[in-house]
Amino acid sequence: MTEERPPGLAGGLTEYGDREFAQYLRRSFASAMGHTPQSLGKPVVGILNTWSELNNCHRGLRELAEAVKRGVWQAGGLPLEFPVISLGEIFLSPTSMFLRNLMALDVEAMLRAQPLDAVVLMGGCDKTLPALLMGAASADIPAIALAAGPMLTGSHEGERIGACTDCRRFWAAYRRGELERATIDGIEAQLAPTAGTCGVMGTASTMACLSEALGMMLPGGAAIPAVHADRLRHGEFSGIQAVALAENRLTPSRIMTEAAFDNALRVLQAIGGSTNAVIHLTAIAGRLGIKLELERLDDLAASTPVLVGLKPSGAAYMEDFHRAGGLPVVLQALRGQLHAEALTVTGATLGEQLAQPFVWPDWQDVIRPLDNPLQEQGALIALRGSLAPDGSVLKRSAASPSLLQTEARAVVFSSLSDLAALIDDPALDVRPDDCLLLQNAGPLGGPGMPEAGYLPIPRKLTGQRDMLRISDARMSGTAFGTIVLHVAPEAALGGPLGLARSGDRIGLDAQRRRLDLLVDERELLRRGEEARPQPPVAARGYERLYRESVQQAPLGVDFDFLRHESLQDV
Ligand code: FES
Repeated sequence: MTEERPPGLAGGLTEYGDREFAQYLRRSFASAMGHTPQSLGKPVVGILNTWSELNNCHRGLRELAEAVKRGVWQAGGLPLEFPVISLGEIFLSPTSMFLRNLMALDVEAMLRAQPLDAVVLMGGCDKTLPALLMGAASADIPAIALAAGPMLTGSHEGERIGACTDCRRFWAAYRRGELERATIDGIEAQLAPTAGTCGVMGTASTMACLSEALGMMLPGGAAIPAVHADRLRHGEFSGIQAVALAENRLTPSRIMTEAAFDNALRVLQAIGGSTNAVIHLTAIAGRLGIKLELERLDDLAASTPVLVGLKPSGAAYMEDFHRAGGLPVVLQALRGQLHAEALTVTGATLGEQLAQPFVWPDWQDVIRPLDNPLQEQGALIALRGSLAPDGSVLKRSAASPSLLQTEARAVVFSSLSDLAALIDDPALDVRPDDCLLLQNAGPLGGPGMPEAGYLPIPRKLTGQRDMLRISDARMSGTAFGTIVLHVAPEAALGGPLGLARSGDRIGLDAQRRRLDLLVDERELLRRGEEARPQPPVAARGYERLYRESVQQAPLGVDFDFLRHESLQDV
């Protein structure tokens, strides 16, 4: 906020050209809420609730909002709940990523427009916490993040299963002909058995953990299951803390500093988090004038082991992570490597928070100690080279080690519809040691950068479990395999990815962080000249805004005019 305004409902008046009349009108309409004048005089804590019947992950948010209200009342505030748009990952077309910036715009506009002294940001499903933090960073009013919490696991023939690493594993087995239709149908009802977000270390869990690591969520809040009573207690504490934030004006820009983002990137490596988080963190940081470089991700990968064994990197689920102590245990384990001076919503620094007496739970099955990690080096690495001059990302912890140094023949799909039409064609010229390469699925080409980077293994290679796959798309954080994502510049913007042809050789050297299109430069020039520029797609409404303003993956896929003014030309 740039303009100082009075606290409570007296703040941010509607303009009529007569301030006294505006105050009179505000008071008279506020009294219609049915609160006493005493209540209406308290600091206002907005409860931003993204509950929606088209968002199964947020099914518990109505009850959680009531718990937050209890906390706000206890601490002397006036809780007022309001909606913004909600993004239910599985119910949106073309993708939820296409709409993330629309939600962030909605959040920012409503936080700026309403008379709020602080806000509790309630979300969870993949793009919602990023959009909430992006909007709150730009509006910069005191804010605290509150996650919906992960779902519990289901069961199939005695095996615990959960969304959505197991969705992909069982579907791949079905495609290989290892499961009957009746079996896959039976599994369907067990994959998402409760309210809450996907129960593995997918994007939702990752972003909840990173909200906590950034200091924007109360300790322990990321992992509590959606249906656990602890989740309601955590909501109540968040309401209490929101009133404290309103009183001391502790804003997101004071919490989400460069140090905080560095902590978050290190935690991302240690938890084996989703590749999507690289894009979201970059976008949130960009709102605050902080530039996150892919090279920093690499530096941290070299000095941060993977400690958390959740699917898809390990075998555990978020409910196990909660029982093992959740993110506070990871932060304790990484304590010597984190920036202790970073402030958190508790009002204390991370260092002060971690210096509190700490009882180590029974944790080592799920969260490993530094001297016995799951993997010696971090989960995510950045690759550059002639195929990705501006960078790309690989989740090394979910990849097949044998494919991390490889040269392979490319089998190219020029679009998502090309992929759908050809992948199972018996005539497809594909061999087990080939590399599958998908073009035109980036921020513009998708549009909305679909999670199509986890290309299916062609049906004619029955039994094959992994192949090198490369695209300008994203991948669900729940997926696994040797998959290079976010290739930039994207094919639709004239990037070299769009110049690759079936039969070309592709070189991946994860050790040297290289991804190369092994084709003679003159031949690439020739192909570039041959490529006909695509006519602009006719678009209206939000799609038009998106197409005109969206940036590439290394800039967080945010809109150019929404990044902090200091980064507008960067
Ligand atoms: Fe909402 Fe996975 S579908 S978190």
